[in-house]
Amino acid sequence: MQDGKCSLLGFEFVVTIVTNDYFFELDICSMNTDKHKYWETIYETKAPEEVSWTEKIPASSLNLINQLQLSKNAAIIDVGGGDSNLVDFLLEAGYNNLTVLDISENALARAKNRLGKKAKKVKWIAADILTYEQLQHFDVWHDRAAFHFLTQPHEVNAYVNKVNTFVTGHLILGTFSVNGPLKCSGLPITQYTPELVKPLFKNAFSLNGCINKDHITPFGTEQNFLFCVFRKSKPDAMH
Ligand SMILES: C[S@@+](CC[C@H](N)C(=O)[O-])C[C@H]1O[C@@H](n2cnc3c(N)ncnc32)[C@H](O)[C@@H]1O
Repeated sequence: MQDGKCSLLGFEFVVTIVTNDYFFELDICSMNTDKHKYWETIYETKAPEEVSWTEKIPASSLNLINQLQLSKNAAIIDVGGGDSNLVDFLLEAGYNNLTVLDISENALARAKNRLGKKAKKVKWIAADILTYEQLQHFDVWHDRAAFHFLTQPHEVNAYVNKVNTFVTGHLILGTFSVNGPLKCSGLPITQYTPELVKPLFKNAFSLNGCINKDHITPFGTEQNFLFCVFRKSKPDAMH
């Protein structure tokens, strides 16, 4: 890092690739190497049916997004979206301003391959959400099973600051509940209740409500999730 910017051999490494096929941004500087490698290996070595979080139809997320009655032009980001099918269903529903951000390029590559030509309708960002500096504003920020990996207060603060700054409308947050697992993909997570999650975002958001949902993993086990929907209540709140 030099002068707050990341550089290698004098070059800054935020690579934006816009081709006929994709808008794809790869922010090498923002990536915490261990975390990045960990997730790259998961997506390199495990098929979707071999990881617990895979959903054929991301029904809870879709229902919650539908309930917001958004315009099809609404800017929606799936943070830690991995190779989730959510983007497929949102495209199918006609949403035309979609972004998927994930720390793993392999995950995004899988989603893009699956979507084929439709992938060019989506903005793909390979970056660590905690340190990525080039975000734009979003009407909806959706996160299923990425936020709960933040186990340190400084990580949670960094995430909350991003949400406060870049979300203009709604935040949909899906985490493991207190009746869910203590680990995900071998990593420790933080379990949440509405009472635990609400104060984290209270400076800029009101809580619309939370629901608990059992996710049936590809192995047939149950994981209890908490999905909470927040609405921006203080438009100018930054932190
Ligand atoms: C349990 S998976 C969930 C994937 C997807 N949201 C779903 O519901 O199928 C967690 C995802 O978060 C991503 N992730 C973890 N930490 C991240 C971070 N700091 N920034 C961006 N993505 C992250 C991982 O690469 C992984 O794809």
